[in-house]
Amino acid sequence: MLQERIEGKWLDCFRRVFALNGISRGTKVAILSETQSRPVLVQLSDLALHDLGADYCMIQMPTPRQTAPVPVKSTGTSWAIQGNRAVIEALKGVEVIVDCTVEGLIHAPEWPEIEDAGIARLLVVCNEHPEILERTEPTADIAAKVELGIQMLRDAREMRVTSPAGTDLVIDIDGAPCGGTPGFGTRPGAVAHWPGGLCLAFPGKNSVNGRIVMDVGDMNLTFKTVLTSRIDFTVENDFVTAIKGDGIDALHFREYMEAWEDRNAFGMSHVGWGMHPRAKWVSAVMYDKRDMQAVEFRALAGSFLWSTGANQYAGRYTLGHFDLPMRNCTITLDGRTVVKDGVLQGELAV
Ligand SMILES: [Fe+2]
Repeated sequence: MLQERIEGKWLDCFRRVFALNGISRGTKVAILSETQSRPVLVQLSDLALHDLGADYCMIQMPTPRQTAPVPVKSTGTSWAIQGNRAVIEALKGVEVIVDCTVEGLIHAPEWPEIEDAGIARLLVVCNEHPEILERTEPTADIAAKVELGIQMLRDAREMRVTSPAGTDLVIDIDGAPCGGTPGFGTRPGAVAHWPGGLCLAFPGKNSVNGRIVMDVGDMNLTFKTVLTSRIDFTVENDFVTAIKGDGIDALHFREYMEAWEDRNAFGMSHVGWGMHPRAKWVSAVMYDKRDMQAVEFRALAGSFLWSTGANQYAGRYTLGHFDLPMRNCTITLDGRTVVKDGVLQGELAV
């Protein structure tokens, strides 16, 4: 069993990653956490900021009530701030938010206002056991490739994804907002998460059509499970309209989706691929679910990552969210192959 205590080697990691995020003597920082945060992450952040000489404060919120019909995990949409005006104003005034909330603020409703104030950038320390963060520590060298991948998405009009299992998906990404992170950022408004290393796009309305066949070994990161059976999805005009499969994975998927009683839960959120050279698929069998937020698997180099749920750029809002990395896919942008059979190609290769 993994213990959660301060280790010198993890403190070293936190110092290095914070320095990579531009934190040094006098940088104004807030550590945001909630009562259900993993204490060791808050403690490591505290000590690392102290060592770096940052000018920092620590804000802890009570973890909010549950309102959803099913457990909500691993969505990147923290409700921890709960609209609290004093907290929002405090966060608008710092240069870096070290985000130790359980879900992270990436899609939090308060983030756009904090971002618009033009000062803060966000570093989400994902709710992983520190050993996972140690293994996936971001390094400066990955940034150029992630930037290149994002630019390729911005320049493309169409993404097509195929797989030997039967996937054939066409996505209009012309003009779609694109993003991603190498795991660090240094400019106001930057959104980084650790582990990082992915490139993605948020397709607009009526732009995703085709079939997605998730195969044995692909992953459902809301459930933190590796599929042991196939799930066959039909996607029509952005919405999953059929979920076929007799295995437990399809049964769980259907049940969870239907529990929302919300059509938008069936809509497409983001599509893209992972870029982290040290994110490893096989790690999933090495940890207990409580040890991970499973962000490592969003960054698996050469995986196709698709998701269902909220997509603000297509005007769809919902709390339900699945992140679904798939192996062995081929991804093309306007006919140019960027991932072949699950392997990054050309300049993106790791
Ligand atoms: Fe997601």
